[in-house]
Amino acid sequence: MTPLTKTETPSGLTVTALTKVLSNRTIVENFELDVAAGELVALLGPSGCGKTTTLRMMAGFLEPDTGSVSIGGVDVTDKGPDKRPSAMVFQNYALWPHLTVFKNVAFPLSIKRVPRAEITQRVMAALETVNLAHHAHSRPAHISGGEQQRAALARAIVQRPDLLLLDEPLSNLDAKLRVKVREEIRDIQQRLGITTVMVTHDQDEAMAISDRVAVMNAGRIEQVSTPTELYANPRTLFVASFIGSMNVLPAPTLFESASLSIVADAAPDAMPDAAPAEAWAVRPEDVLFEPASGVQRPGATPVEVRRVLPHGHFSELVLSAGGTEVRSVAGGTPPAVGDHGTVTLNNVRHYVDGILAGGRA
Ligand SMILES: Nc1ncnc2c1ncn2[C@@H]1O[C@H](COP(=O)(O)OP(=O)(O)OP(=O)(O)O)[C@@H](O)[C@H]1O
Ligand SMILES: [Mg+2]
Repeated sequence: MTPLTKTETPSGLTVTALTKVLSNRTIVENFELDVAAGELVALLGPSGCGKTTTLRMMAGFLEPDTGSVSIGGVDVTDKGPDKRPSAMVFQNYALWPHLTVFKNVAFPLSIKRVPRAEITQRVMAALETVNLAHHAHSRPAHISGGEQQRAALARAIVQRPDLLLLDEPLSNLDAKLRVKVREEIRDIQQRLGITTVMVTHDQDEAMAISDRVAVMNAGRIEQVSTPTELYANPRTLFVASFIGSMNVLPAPTLFESASLSIVADAAPDAMPDAAPAEAWAVRPEDVLFEPASGVQRPGATPVEVRRVLPHGHFSELVLSAGGTEVRSVAGGTPPAVGDHGTVTLNNVRHYVDGILAGGRA
C-alpha cells in the first residue's frame, strides 16, 4: 500500500469580516485571513481569545453573524461541515473507543457511501501516511497518545480535504512527543500540499512549523506574519510580549540605547507627560551587559547582576538598575551574581496605547 500523494490543485482559504456574538458577548470580531494554497497558518492566542470559535466557523460547525468563508474560491458560508471540502481534527481526537483504528478512519468514507474496496485502499493509504498501518486493528485505548493523535489526523486526510483544520492537535501529548508529532504533522502537510489552519496557544509550536502565524487577542487578529517577521517586528505590545521573551519597561530612562534617542536623552523626571499607556520593549538578546572596568561611562546607570540562570551554551541574566529589572542573555562565561556593570539596549521599541510608535519597525 502506498501513502497518499500531493493534491493536484490545492485550494486556498479566504475568510472575510467574520463576527460571532455568543450570549451577548462579541467572541470573534471582524476576523480576516487569507491562507494561500498549500500554506500552513497557525492561529495563535491565549486561552479564551476565540480560536476554536473561529475554527468552527471555518469548518461550518458554527454559523457566523457576519462575514464569509471561501475555500478554493467557492463561498461555503451557508454550507454545513459535510458539504465543505474541509476536515477538522478536534482537540480531544474524538475517536470512537469501541471501533478499531481502521474503522475510525473509515467512518467518514462509510457515511459518504464510498465503495468498500475503495475505503480499504484509502484508509490503508492514510494510515501508511501517518505511519500507523501496523495498528489498523488496534482499539484507541491500546495505542499511545501520539498514535491516537495520528489516527485522528488519518481520519481527516482520508477525506482528501482541500482544507485541513486542526484544533490544538498536540495539547494532550507530553512535551517531547509534542515536538516529534508537530514535525510529523508539518511533514505530512507539506508532502500532501494541503492548505492548513492549526490552532494553538503554544508560540513555540506555532513558530516552529508554520509558514505564517496569525496572532489573535480578544476575538481579533493583531498581526499575521512569518515567524521571523513576527519576532523581529511585532506591531503591537501584545504581540511583542506574547511571542518570545520580552522586557517591557514603563520608562527605559535607566539604560542607554543605541537605537532610540528618547531613551538615552530622557531623565526620569523629564517625562512628566508619560502616560501609563506608554511602554518600551526590548528583547533579552538586545540587552548588552558589560562588566564595570573601573571607568563608568558618563551618564550610565550602574547595573547589578541579580540572578544567573545557566542554559548550557548560554545564560540568562536578571539585571537590576535603580529597582527596574531586565532580562539579558550572555554567551561564554557569564558574570557572577553581585557583579556591577553597564547596560546598552539595542532595538528598543516604543509602544503607545499598545501600538508600535517608534524604534524598530
Ligand atoms: N456557546 C457559547 N456561548 C457563550 N460563550 C461561548 C460559547 N462558546 C464559547 N464561548 C466563549 O467564547 C470565548 C472564546 O472561546 P473559544 O473556545 O473560541 O476560545 P479559545 O481561544 O479556543 O480558547 P482555548 O485556548 O482555551 O481553547 C470564551 O470566553 C468562551 O467562554
Ligand atoms: Mg479552543
